[in-house]
Amino acid sequence: MSLLEIAQLTGGYGETDILNGIDLTVEQGEILTVAGTNGAGKSTLAKAVMGLLPRASGRIALDGTDILAEPVERRLALGIAYVPQVGNVFASLSVLENLQVVQGVRDAKARIAELLDAFPALSERRRARAGSLSGGERQQLAFARALMARPRLMILDEPTAALAPARVADSFERIRALPALGVSVLMVEQRARQALSVSDRGCILDGGKVAMLGAAAGLLADERAAALYLGRAGGA
Ligand SMILES: Nc1ncnc2c1ncn2[C@@H]1O[C@H](COP(=O)(O)OP(=O)(O)O)[C@@H](O)[C@H]1O
Ligand SMILES: [Mg+2]
Repeated sequence: MSLLEIAQLTGGYGETDILNGIDLTVEQGEILTVAGTNGAGKSTLAKAVMGLLPRASGRIALDGTDILAEPVERRLALGIAYVPQVGNVFASLSVLENLQVVQGVRDAKARIAELLDAFPALSERRRARAGSLSGGERQQLAFARALMARPRLMILDEPTAALAPARVADSFERIRALPALGVSVLMVEQRARQALSVSDRGCILDGGKVAMLGAAAGLLADERAAALYLGRAGGA
């Protein structure tokens, strides 16, 4: 059974459908990249899975249980975490406080210790205000916050968008390490080639529909995908 199963997912913010019947799965232990041009509906899909889209119909199931009607808090409790592109840390709180304020975490102290071990840069700066962190450190803090609840599925929306170019490869390596921690990943990325290179599978959205879906290596080698969606190999 798939960890996440999305079937005929349709929905939007108002009366207009932005998602137009999406079928997609995320398997246990997998990293799946969602690529596509601006406005294709990638962020909207991410929000729908987390329960943040005002209107959605169809099926979203976690381990076979339909969660479409469940509120965000319930989806969090079931093991879904979401890291939006911006606004994902409290700038005025310290690194440690940002972890301490995450609600509903079992053995929170032990979990914070584990995560500070896993993110040495954060451990060093645990007393610093999050607002004083670099873009890369802030992103690590956002990841650590999302990992507090020991999620099984992490939804990442443009994880590298706010990073200095020199930090991008590191960030993709951190994402690549998530399945070994028991965390499967649904990642939306503009840097589609780099994202696919650390992914198992990829999906290309176009007009709120799945235009292409397959093994990441296959998409990277696909001429139509390159011409329409990925830019040429070696390009930015
Ligand atoms: N909060 C919102 N309210 C209304 N329309 C929105 C909102 N956010 C996004 N949209 C619209 O939904 C469409 C898809 O947006 P989005 O999912 O953000 O695309 P992507 O992430 O692929 O660039 C766009 O036409 C966008 O204008
Ligand atoms: Mg987006």
